[in-house]
Amino acid sequence: MASKSLCFVLLSALVAYYIYKPLPDNIEEKWKTMMLDATFRSLGHLATLAEMFGIKHYMDVMMLLTYAEHTEPASDNNVIITDTSFSDVPVRLYIPKGQSSTLRRAIMFIHGGGWCLGSATMKPYDQLSKQSSHKLNAVVVSINYRLAPKFHFPIQYDDVYKVVKFFMQEKVLEKYSVDPKRIAVSGDSAGGNLAAAVAQMLLHDPEVKVKFKIEMLIYPVLQALDLSTPSYQDNAFMPLLSRTLMVRFWSEYFTTDRSLFEAMMSNKHIPSQDAHLFKNVNWSSLLPEDLKKNHVHSIPDSQNTMFLKKYPGLLDVRASPLLAEDEKLVGLPLTYVITCMYDVLRDDGVMYVSRLRNAGVQVVHEHYDTFHGILLMTNWPFHFSIADHIVDKYLKWLDNNL
Ligand SMILES: *[C@@H]1O[C@H](CO)[C@@H](O)[C@H](O)[C@H]1NC(C)=O
Repeated sequence: MASKSLCFVLLSALVAYYIYKPLPDNIEEKWKTMMLDATFRSLGHLATLAEMFGIKHYMDVMMLLTYAEHTEPASDNNVIITDTSFSDVPVRLYIPKGQSSTLRRAIMFIHGGGWCLGSATMKPYDQLSKQSSHKLNAVVVSINYRLAPKFHFPIQYDDVYKVVKFFMQEKVLEKYSVDPKRIAVSGDSAGGNLAAAVAQMLLHDPEVKVKFKIEMLIYPVLQALDLSTPSYQDNAFMPLLSRTLMVRFWSEYFTTDRSLFEAMMSNKHIPSQDAHLFKNVNWSSLLPEDLKKNHVHSIPDSQNTMFLKKYPGLLDVRASPLLAEDEKLVGLPLTYVITCMYDVLRDDGVMYVSRLRNAGVQVVHEHYDTFHGILLMTNWPFHFSIADHIVDKYLKWLDNNL
């Protein structure tokens, strides 16, 4: 009996130790955040084990979450939802039911998941698209691009751009009664990366006459050059996106070869002779003082040129939109950027805000004291009220500006 109680106490202590994590004071709903983080971390541990024993690739296990959240296209009284494809790329299409005397607005949505995970069919993405379609009376095209580790850069980007090019044709817009002057592109995390990249490309593409009116970047990932920005350092262990996981996503985007991951972990993947490239991601000049804190900016001390030779995508603006020169940013559409304080990607977003403003682009920047991935937290058991608040604000702004 006594030994049973002792076991119970020890086990409880172990579980509590696993779950408990000190969090910043201004993060809301702390216990729920810890439970969420512990759940996600457990999946990560399972994935690490499966990979260690050669059973499955890390990302194949992480994909379980995507499958668990899968929804079928379920039309309702307001929106017709179908799974179809544009230019051979699968998309989930949302069309409002009501008759409209004027042309409709449209949103091209790109889901997140580090180019490795996620799907337009996941419940939170499906809900957001459905809500956007209904509330804005807009056509929503949610893009299911191919994922790593099976497919690498630039396949993800190419898939998205193919859909954008297909949809932006005048005859296609006409078919869906879409106003060519009122189209937005939006994406979260890696989807924000792809949204920023296609927006830059579209601006200078002479083959496509129709352009975006608005780009929405929700805690986007924007550069692979410096993986030790203050936010990467300060938030390395915050929920849900650890520095290790983000670096893993980055390396998987280019290759399954683990040596790139190791080099990126120590921020030694770019040789010092290419240090001049760092001017466009120089957080020393692009971040406000309160985010820099006492971090000291340094350029790489690596002599290894191998990775750049093998993976030139590392310096490609289609992978790292923050590397684009100023003149490529001039003329970008009105941009809405969401960043989160406790997110490794915070500084990517904040630096892009600075660079866009320097280039004369109009930017609305919303900054929240929360963690990465919050927009997905709109369902039981991990429903966060700040997620509702952010979604509300995002939709209202889009409704007023698109
Ligand atoms: C980054 O910015 C700082 C401060 O403005 C400057 O001293 C430094 O030379 C810059 N570094 C690079 C690589 O551009």
